[in-house]
Amino acid sequence: MTLKLGLIGHPISHSLSPWIHAKFIDLAGLNGGEYKLYEGNPNQLPDVLTQLKQNKIDGFNVTIPYKQVVLDYLDELDSDAEILGAVNTVVNQHGKWKGGYSTDGGEGYVRSIIESFPSLLNKDTSVLILGAGGGAARGIYRALVQKRLKRVDIANRTLDKAKELLPLGKDFTPSEVLTFHTAEKNLSQYDLIVQTTSVGMKPKVQEQIIQLDNIRKDTVVSDIVYQPIMTKILQDAKVHGARIHHGHAMLLYQGQLAFEKWTGKKLDVSHLVDELEDKLRGE
Ligand code: ATR
Repeated sequence: MTLKLGLIGHPISHSLSPWIHAKFIDLAGLNGGEYKLYEGNPNQLPDVLTQLKQNKIDGFNVTIPYKQVVLDYLDELDSDAEILGAVNTVVNQHGKWKGGYSTDGGEGYVRSIIESFPSLLNKDTSVLILGAGGGAARGIYRALVQKRLKRVDIANRTLDKAKELLPLGKDFTPSEVLTFHTAEKNLSQYDLIVQTTSVGMKPKVQEQIIQLDNIRKDTVVSDIVYQPIMTKILQDAKVHGARIHHGHAMLLYQGQLAFEKWTGKKLDVSHLVDELEDKLRGE
């Protein structure tokens, strides 16, 4: 039986997921498998989903703007999806559609960090998350606090939005909400700084969310923005002698997790990080 996968969202024509999953299908030896884009505006969504059901799709990713509305079409949710009220991966389990959220941001992000910095996350690790947006920051915060670290603080322009995330962490890891100004002053206490906002993304490549003057040299600065590959904050981190982690690695590991849910196969994807970087650089 041929593996049928895909993505629903709008707009998705620039998605990297077809490239990533074509590589995974090859790696898994599932010749003839497919990962297709199912683009549709909100009026077309019911038809798109009916089509996927009729085609007996094995699984699909869900992206903006359908992460919440897709819940109405599912038979079951995993606990992440239930807590977050959003779904980014659907698995067809014997005809029943089960929605999950764990492959977005959070767990895939943590996998990508562990792959690049195997000993970074432990009980002595302090993390600073920059941004508290609905999608990425929430998933990343949740996955990081579950590693039971020393602390995971959140700095955001709108403090109330950051405070909304705190209940997700309270049973696992201490957290505080900070202004960007306080975060900049206290930067030397962090081992990992995760930039989760769109600041610095093309075309506004000159923007940088905080200044890094107080950073330590062994700190890892991680930016989930991957267009451009070398964002301003990552360039600045290098100037300060800190270590860096690129956003596109997260994409691959999110894909790895989704593919595992669909096929049961955990692929070694580490060699694809550089290939994806070349693709993003247009080589
Ligand atoms: P998403 O749900 O896609 O993550 P979002 O909810 O719009 O997007 O959140 C974007 C994040 O980027 C938020 O943390 C936002 O800060 P606010 O909560 O204060 O709005 C942050 N952000 C976006 N543009 C910013 C800017 N120019 N300066 C500082 N923070 C910014």
